[in-house]
Amino acid sequence: MNYEIYRFDKIDSTNSHLLKLADEGFPEGSVVVADEQTGGRGRFGRKWESEPLSNLLFSVLLRPVFLERDEVFVLTFSAAVAVAEAIEDVAKVRPELKWPNDVLLGSRKVCGILLESVFSSDDLSSVVLGVGLNVNQRHFPAEISARATSLSVYTGKKFDRDEILSAILGKFASIYETVRARDFYSVMKKWRDRSNMFGRKIRLRLADKVYEGICDEITDDGAIVVQTSTGFKTFTAGEISIIGEEG
Ligand code: BTN
Repeated sequence: MNYEIYRFDKIDSTNSHLLKLADEGFPEGSVVVADEQTGGRGRFGRKWESEPLSNLLFSVLLRPVFLERDEVFVLTFSAAVAVAEAIEDVAKVRPELKWPNDVLLGSRKVCGILLESVFSSDDLSSVVLGVGLNVNQRHFPAEISARATSLSVYTGKKFDRDEILSAILGKFASIYETVRARDFYSVMKKWRDRSNMFGRKIRLRLADKVYEGICDEITDDGAIVVQTSTGFKTFTAGEISIIGEEG
């Protein structure tokens, strides 16, 4: 993967900007990084708040022509693994992964990932992979303070954001080759080896419905299998909380 990095002091959203560049024909490996976002976006249409100049906010443009529409999920898991491996190398702590794409330290979220895909007619034309990693931020807004952390809060140290960015891009380039070789099993195995979810009692929210049960499995298709009181249920989307750790 050849990366070309475009840096901004302030931008609405690195994902939104890169979606425009994708439309203009920018190549795979284009990366947009910002010190501050005025309209940072999270999953489920939420805002992604980040203290200016403290954290990593970036997006990577992919053109995975070798993937089918229903295989794009593997990129989310690949990104989570790449972030976890990079954190482990740089900060010498071992993050855990929460389905489908959160990276945790001490049961708190340190990184969120937002994948946005663009299709032209039925073919996948581009994927924008957005990463928000809390690096040096020390304080969080009250609504999320019980659930959020940063590398700095967790380790007591300050980190060079560029060093972490290069580490993540390096790890991602390598796992992307595994995806290109269509070895999804290896990607999912790496993800599962870092997951904190198996055997835990979880609550899954999906379109106004709430399901509870024990996390049984994360399949090679990226789905979660939950053992509920009415049997095993498989989900490909939803938001999980681990019961007892809601914060
Ligand atoms: C989540 O809800 O957990 C995903 C958060 C993703 C945030 C990142 S920050 C960089 C990129 N640009 C955005 O607007 N969102 C993603």
